[in-house]
Amino acid sequence: MAKTPAPGPGLGQAIFAWLDERAGLSTIWKTVFARAVPETNWFYTLGSASAILALLQVITGMLLTIYYVPSPDHAYESIDYIMNEVTFGWLIRGMHHWGATLMVLVVFLHMLKAFFVGAYKWPRELTWITGGLLLLIVLVLGFSGYLLPWNQRAYWATSVGTAIIGAVPGIGPTLTQIARGGTEIGAVTLIRFYGLHIWWMPIALLSLIGVHLYLVIRIGITHPPERDE
Ligand code: HEM
Repeated sequence: MAKTPAPGPGLGQAIFAWLDERAGLSTIWKTVFARAVPETNWFYTLGSASAILALLQVITGMLLTIYYVPSPDHAYESIDYIMNEVTFGWLIRGMHHWGATLMVLVVFLHMLKAFFVGAYKWPRELTWITGGLLLLIVLVLGFSGYLLPWNQRAYWATSVGTAIIGAVPGIGPTLTQIARGGTEIGAVTLIRFYGLHIWWMPIALLSLIGVHLYLVIRIGITHPPERDE
């Protein structure tokens, strides 16, 4: 009886092999996802949770820019429009709003875990330092985003926040002036915070997450300390 010929590689496999030969996909996969990690616990998922939250914030934020208008005359109405008229606008804004709060919490807990397992020590000092900068960026994102709805709470919170910056010895008043774009909070402050919120800080956040993860992969992670360590 004639043998059935063995099936050749499918189209998907052929495309993968073509890309793999040129871009080294399987090496990337092995290095990033199939690398050996020590036995850990649930606290070690907080870093990945922070990364997923960052990604969700970027996606929902990009969707919000479709309708949001960064001007004192239209900002409040544009948010009202997103909440009441745009299909699922309330959901996207709700995700972005609560995601911001959750992200501060999760990133902070991730930092606490890194601290308690001594992950700030050699050879992970740079991972810790890039993490510290990431926390700062997350806080600036939260602060700059708070003004954007341009309601009473946003206005007065920013008024207090920028006044607090003024308490820095020596350069405080100049910093307040720079943050507000003048002596009072107005159109310049709004556009300045908007620029920070949608360009400068997200670019810094994503680039620094890249460096942070590079270091995590290059150096490896700690294992939870044992009773006798
Ligand atoms: C957007 C913010 C952040 C993201 C996306 C992020 C992501 C991650 C991921 C995925 C890991 C590996 C898994 C794990 O140990 O959880 C990690 C490890 C680490 N992160 Fe972060 N991180 C962020 C913020 C921070 C902050 C604020 C600090 C501290 C100031 C920090 C310090 C560290 C350290 C020291 C490690 C190594 C932990 C170990 O070896 O046990 N990270 N980070």
